[in-house]
Amino acid sequence: MKVLVAYATSEGHTRKIARHVADRMFDAGHGVELLALTDAQDLDLGRFNRVILAASLHIGHYQRALADFAEANAKALTSKPSLLLSVSLAAAGHAADEWRDLERIAEDFEEATGWNADEVLHVAGAYMPSRYDLVRRLTMRRIIAKKDPEADLYSDKVYTDWDALDAKVDAWMGKRE
Ligand SMILES: Cc1cc2nc3c(=O)[nH]c(=O)nc-3n(C[C@H](O)[C@H](O)[C@H](O)COP(=O)(O)O)c2cc1C
Repeated sequence: MKVLVAYATSEGHTRKIARHVADRMFDAGHGVELLALTDAQDLDLGRFNRVILAASLHIGHYQRALADFAEANAKALTSKPSLLLSVSLAAAGHAADEWRDLERIAEDFEEATGWNADEVLHVAGAYMPSRYDLVRRLTMRRIIAKKDPEADLYSDKVYTDWDALDAKVDAWMGKRE
């Protein structure tokens, strides 16, 4: 099976997630191409049996590169098994309203771009003060202090559950094989 894993990232964590998923596919014997969505213009999707696109939420939106790629390739993407990895901090918690927002954002995105993914996986991301500018550092510090009172507000913290991610991606790969 030939799998495309393409990602958009702002602070780098979604790149790490995409690389983790790509490595796992490779270890399972699949052919994998890993690339940034900013480098994916003119890519021939016909070369791939499956496509995984990953991006993170910033103020309720995915990166522009994901929207541009999904819109430009909506038909080809929808015609084959495709998966959206939606990375966020809301997915690190259990707040019902935040999960409703995540689902609504993914639905609105699908409607706006015309790409209907087989499945959307909401993946917990990371808090990365080492990568934020001053304004973001102060804003995110307040959000994390509320969300995770145990967190050291001055250190990066990864919330991604790698085993759960593996299990969900494996299950998706197992479908329609
Ligand atoms: C400025 C900013 C805005 C964010 N907005 C949201 C948001 O609206 N919803 C959410 O769940 N997470 C939000 N996050 C958390 C990111 O989605 C999370 O940190 C993710 O791991 C970032 O991935 P990246 O490093 O690939 O960009 C925000 C983070 C930052 C820095």
